[in-house]
Amino acid sequence: MRSKIPSFIIIPSILSVIIFMLYVFLTSYNHISYLIHPIIIFFFIITTILLSVLESINKLIFKKKLQFLSKEERTKIIEENEGNYFYRLYRFIFYDYKKISHDKVEKIDHGFDGIIELNNKLPMWWIHLFYFTIVFSAIYFFSYLLLDFSNPYKEYDIAYKNQLKEIEMFEKMTPQITIENASFKENLINRGKVLFEENCATCHQSDGSGNIGPNLTDNYWINIKEKDLFKNIFFIIWNGSENNPTMRAFGQSGEIKGNDIEKISSYVYFINQKSVKPLTGKVPQGIKITTWSKI
Ligand code: HEC
Repeated sequence: MRSKIPSFIIIPSILSVIIFMLYVFLTSYNHISYLIHPIIIFFFIITTILLSVLESINKLIFKKKLQFLSKEERTKIIEENEGNYFYRLYRFIFYDYKKISHDKVEKIDHGFDGIIELNNKLPMWWIHLFYFTIVFSAIYFFSYLLLDFSNPYKEYDIAYKNQLKEIEMFEKMTPQITIENASFKENLINRGKVLFEENCATCHQSDGSGNIGPNLTDNYWINIKEKDLFKNIFFIIWNGSENNPTMRAFGQSGEIKGNDIEKISSYVYFINQKSVKPLTGKVPQGIKITTWSKI
């Protein structure tokens, strides 16, 4: 008969297997917070009580069984079960190979080379680890097939949705830039360029040299609404042009947010102030302005 495993080991191990399976199930449905739901906690308490009752019944059966055995067998089992459980476990897991006499071990005769091999038992830790990997892979395999647990596509989906939520929260929490606090920032130029190419290049060319819309790299301006060049650019992108609805109000309509308009304005300001101009550009339109502060 095998030595008995004490209940302080058995009960926590059964509970942890249940928790692991619940974890697999709940994560696959993105409801991991239910793990501390009162009903679940209640379920665990009931399970613990049931397991302890079962354990004490087992103990009773074990004692009753002992009575039916012969005296020698009984003393042998009692001896086996005496002492520290962990020491017994240690002995069980790691055989002491030095103590095993060679005569008891089965021998394999290779015959042809004259070498005799001892067919030693594999250590218990190795065998149990092997069983564990089989059980684990079975649980993993079926939860992968039947549930969404650890399915990369599903995980990606969940992570993606969470990230979108975070971005939404971030945008709600951080107020967008308005014309009052907008300013030219050199580090925004590159991101502004990308946005300009997406939203504006169809009418102004990606270098700003003009097409349907006017050349944005020269000193000539149709719309003069602010005393500062950067703010003037921001104003037009936000409000559009009064005289020509083709240049629509990107900011007012909500098509582009204030933060992005600051980036685009920084790019437009940069290409306007740069000394190197595009080789070809649309003919000047509007009034020539050399110093903005003098308007
Ligand atoms: C559908 C074509 C079109 C798109 C898209 C467009 N614009 Fe314009 N834009 C125009 C036209 C046309 C004008 C001239 C308006 C006028 O005559 O008052 C203009 C004028 C402007 C002006 C003022 C120029 C001046 O001399 O007064 C600026 C600055 C400007 N656009 C920037 C942008 C930016 C930045 C974007 C992208 C967010 C953009 N535009 C997208 C057509 C467009």
